[in-house]
Amino acid sequence: MKLKYFSHSAFQITADNGNVILIDPFLDGNPTSPVKSESVNADYIILTHAHGDHIGDGFKIAQRCGSTFICVNELAIYCQSKGFKAHNMHIGGGYNFDFGRVKFTIAHHGSMTPDGQYGGEPAGVIISIGNKKIYHTGDTALFYDMKLIGETNQVDFMLLPIGDNFTMGIDDAVRAAEFVKPKTAVPIHYNTFPVIVVDPAEFKNKLEAKGINCRIMNFGEEIVI
Ligand code: NI
Ligand code: MN
Repeated sequence: MKLKYFSHSAFQITADNGNVILIDPFLDGNPTSPVKSESVNADYIILTHAHGDHIGDGFKIAQRCGSTFICVNELAIYCQSKGFKAHNMHIGGGYNFDFGRVKFTIAHHGSMTPDGQYGGEPAGVIISIGNKKIYHTGDTALFYDMKLIGETNQVDFMLLPIGDNFTMGIDDAVRAAEFVKPKTAVPIHYNTFPVIVVDPAEFKNKLEAKGINCRIMNFGEEIVI
C-alpha cells in the first residue's frame, strides 16, 4: 500500500486492491498543501470529524469522482443530506470494506459542520490493510485510553497532531505515542496556520529519546508501506 501526506491531517492511501482512500482532504484552502483537489481522485473519503479543515474539499472531490464517505453516523447523514454516498459507522465499530478494515475510535474534540450542523462525535480511525495498521487519531487531546488502543492493536503508523492550540501539542503527543507504541509515529496538524506553528524536529527528538521511531513526512511525500 502507499501512504501520501498532503499536510495538515490530509492523507491519501492507495490500497493493495487499487482503491484510493482519502482522509480529511483539506487541500484548496490549505496553504501548506502542494496538491489541489482537482488533481485528486477517491473511491472513499474518510472524515474524522466535521470541521472545515477536515471535511475540506471532500464534497468537491466526491462530486467529481462519485466517492463514498466513511464517517460516524451523524456526519454520514449530513453528507447524505447534501446528496453524497456515505457509509454510516460509529465509534467502537469496524467494517470490512473491499480495500480493508476501518474502525472508529474515540477522540476528544468537537465536530460542528462549517454551516453549523451537528456532526456527531469526533473520532480517530484505525485502517487495516493487508498486515499493516494505520491509526489516524483525528484532532484530539491526549487521553489515557490510547494505552488500550495500543494494547489491542499493533499499530504500524500512528498519525497524530502536534500543533497545539486545537489539539495535542508536542509533549502530549509524545505521551500519546508512548501509550500506543507504534512502529512509526508521523506528526500531523502543524504549521498550517500561525497558531499551530511548531518544530516537528523537536517532536522527533523527544520521541526518539523515548525509543520510538518518528518519520516527519514532507508535505506531498508518498511512501510505500
Ligand atoms: Ni477539528
Ligand atoms: Mn483540525
